[in-house]
Amino acid sequence: MVAVANRLPVHMGEEGWELSPGGLVTALRPVMATHPGAWVGWDGGTKGIPPTLPDSGIQLLPVGLSAAQVRGYYHGFSNATIWPLLHNAIEKPRFERAWWRAYQDVNAIFAQRAVTALGVHPSALAWVHDYQLMLVPRMLRDRRDTQPIGFFLHVPWPSPDIFARLPWREQVLMGLLGADVVGFHTDAYRANFLRSCARLLAGSGIEVRGSSVALPDGRLVATATAPISIDAEDFTRHATDPDTTSEIKALTEQFRGRTLLLGVDRLDYTKGIVERVLAVEMLLERNPQLRTGLAFLQIAVPSRDDVREYRQLRATVEQHVGRINGLYTEPGSDVPVHYLYRGLSQQQLAAYYALADALLVTPLIDGMNLVCKEYVIVQQARDGNGVLVLSEFTGAAVELPEAVQCNPFDVEGLSYRIEHALRLTTAARREALAAMAAHVRTYDVHRWVSDQLADLEAHGKPRR
Ligand code: UDP
Ligand code: G6P
Repeated sequence: MVAVANRLPVHMGEEGWELSPGGLVTALRPVMATHPGAWVGWDGGTKGIPPTLPDSGIQLLPVGLSAAQVRGYYHGFSNATIWPLLHNAIEKPRFERAWWRAYQDVNAIFAQRAVTALGVHPSALAWVHDYQLMLVPRMLRDRRDTQPIGFFLHVPWPSPDIFARLPWREQVLMGLLGADVVGFHTDAYRANFLRSCARLLAGSGIEVRGSSVALPDGRLVATATAPISIDAEDFTRHATDPDTTSEIKALTEQFRGRTLLLGVDRLDYTKGIVERVLAVEMLLERNPQLRTGLAFLQIAVPSRDDVREYRQLRATVEQHVGRINGLYTEPGSDVPVHYLYRGLSQQQLAAYYALADALLVTPLIDGMNLVCKEYVIVQQARDGNGVLVLSEFTGAAVELPEAVQCNPFDVEGLSYRIEHALRLTTAARREALAAMAAHVRTYDVHRWVSDQLADLEAHGKPRR
């Protein structure tokens, strides 16, 4: 198998190269350990990437990019054009021809590396990931007519009305249709994709047949719904690790006697962090006793700060946090809002998940959201009774109906949903947690990988 993704699954840690955290790598490792495999990804500008994934035989095939390619392909087209477009254009997508050219060029480089890695193995599977590489399936198909090719989109697919704004919409759709199977997190994203094909490719002899797309050359491209998940066992281990227990002790000291609300996100405008902070402000405004009785801790992981909208978001969030603490810190008491602008290890996160009385997951739109799945697993593993407040605009909301669902666009409504969540009985919280944790355990990332591979097995043969 050859996985093709923008990022390689390694990073430089304190003790040298380490496996990056995240379910996908964890899930692919066993599969790739039994099938010889390679992973093609951008080196992120770091030299000295090891030839194989630590503790495995999986080959790492780094793609080096020039500064201009990084600007055009990564910061530009990937993160300032296609990311906002696929996220319902909640920030205005910027269309620049030079970025599009860089995207095409860099996708061709990835495809070339993948073709080399596929070598002479006609049944080796090419598995392409996410919005940065949507042209790769077609580029592979043009050179490897019968190779099984899968594509998975880790973000939403918007309605055709929004997708149609893209000046290069046909090329992107045709790029994806080079795959045998195109996978999405939810039925809604998949249906939007099929409607986009039907509307925008009608003149090219392309026809949507049920959940497949028939191409003029006779190929049939399947689509699939496959909600990604986490390695639940891994998080259970994190939850009960002695290091986590000592971190929990320290945090318990810090937040003793206060209700702890938690937010954990990359600092991204899709995550509804501003709306969440404003909802907490309303809560403090309405309930003076909460100014000392509650702490809201936001972990904001730095992300894409070469893109203007991300820098502006950081300034806005930090301004609100400062204002709220200025207004509502009681003399002699701790601040109500704690803000960390950094990423933590998943083991450290587990300590915060364990301690938080409520996790606020309030994206304006999010393809899936894994943080909420991690929270319910850790809470249950520690016998907690935390409550999950979950935006209805996340892929996860489809799977976790027992969460306290919310509409983050309604900031005042959100503040009342948080109050409601905090008033739930222990029995109600535990019942909801048990149902959600059971779902996440059953549909974990290993299940996701095996479902994807089964789909590819079924559809990855030339169907005409
Ligand atoms: N994460 C992490 N450290 C942090 C914050 C987050 O390792 O300080 C991880 C988190 O455990 C989760 C992932 O980053 O697995 C975020 O995934 P999610 O689907 O929630 O959001 P994304 O960032 O992919 O949009
Ligand atoms: C989302 C995307 C991934 C991306 C990740 C981090 O989860 O779906 O493709 O890798 O965010 O963003 P970054 O730009 O740092 O890779």
